[in-house]
Amino acid sequence: MDEMVTVELLSTHGLTRKYGGLVAVDDVNFKLYQESIHAIIGPNGAGKTTLVSLICGRTTPSSGRINFKGNDITGLSSAKRVQAGIVYTFQVTSIFSNLSCYENIALSVQRNLRAHQKGTSLLGKWRMVSEADIELEVSKYLLEVGLEGVQTQIAGTLPYGHQKLLEVAMSLAAGPKLLILDEPTQGLAEAEIENLTQLIQEISKSVNVLLIEHNMEVVFNLAEHVTVMDNGSILAEGTPAEIENNDAVQASYLGN
Ligand SMILES: Nc1ncnc2c1ncn2[C@@H]1O[C@H](COP(=O)(O)OP(=O)(O)OP(=O)(O)O)[C@@H](O)[C@H]1O
Ligand SMILES: [Mg+2]
Repeated sequence: MDEMVTVELLSTHGLTRKYGGLVAVDDVNFKLYQESIHAIIGPNGAGKTTLVSLICGRTTPSSGRINFKGNDITGLSSAKRVQAGIVYTFQVTSIFSNLSCYENIALSVQRNLRAHQKGTSLLGKWRMVSEADIELEVSKYLLEVGLEGVQTQIAGTLPYGHQKLLEVAMSLAAGPKLLILDEPTQGLAEAEIENLTQLIQEISKSVNVLLIEHNMEVVFNLAEHVTVMDNGSILAEGTPAEIENNDAVQASYLGN
């Protein structure tokens, strides 16, 4: 029998973010293990987006610390955190709408290849990032998310569901160790949600996924571990089954 080894990937310690008198994230001690999919749920305004914004470095904490793979990353810029493997896709799409699908992904690929190159240049392994390298990578991600048929289309003219897929492809091209998806199914049609759910499942085989999601069917289908936030704090944590049967969660969230 396999022994379950839970390795801590990320943790927050007393993490707090205030906006004036409002405490959006309130002294949160959050732990993320190397499990494939961890979901954060909770009502509107609970602090989910603020928590992951702190984790990815888009927002600075009022107090508290963040650890990733054993290192304190609290002071790192968001760019440095991307290089470390923390990649966040925005709740609102962040593609370049006047560029083609291909060009959007190529930008991400180029950035990632360059970042990796820097690390080896002193050892004499430096080489140019060639057009062919980029093409190969872009094709891989287009295929992975199922956009290979529309690679020349201008991103802004794609249907919303395809823009979401493009955004996921761009995130994958950044080479994440931890991919944070903030309400990826928001605004998608039923069939698109099903398709994206499958894609997330596929991605989670090689990348840790932190998923913020309001759609409970998606959460309970995908997640191995669920954190419930309310009022800037963690209200409950556990397996999907434990969360479903938690009285406090029922009362505050799932019941309404
Ligand atoms: N930049 C900001 N300035 C002021 N208040 C903010 C800011 N960002 C978030 N807040 C407030 O912090 C609280 C938590 O917001 P947050 O966006 O983290 O919630 P959420 O759980 O992601 O909600 P939703 O499910 O609606 O996306 C809310 O009361 C929100 O109004
Ligand atoms: Mg949010």
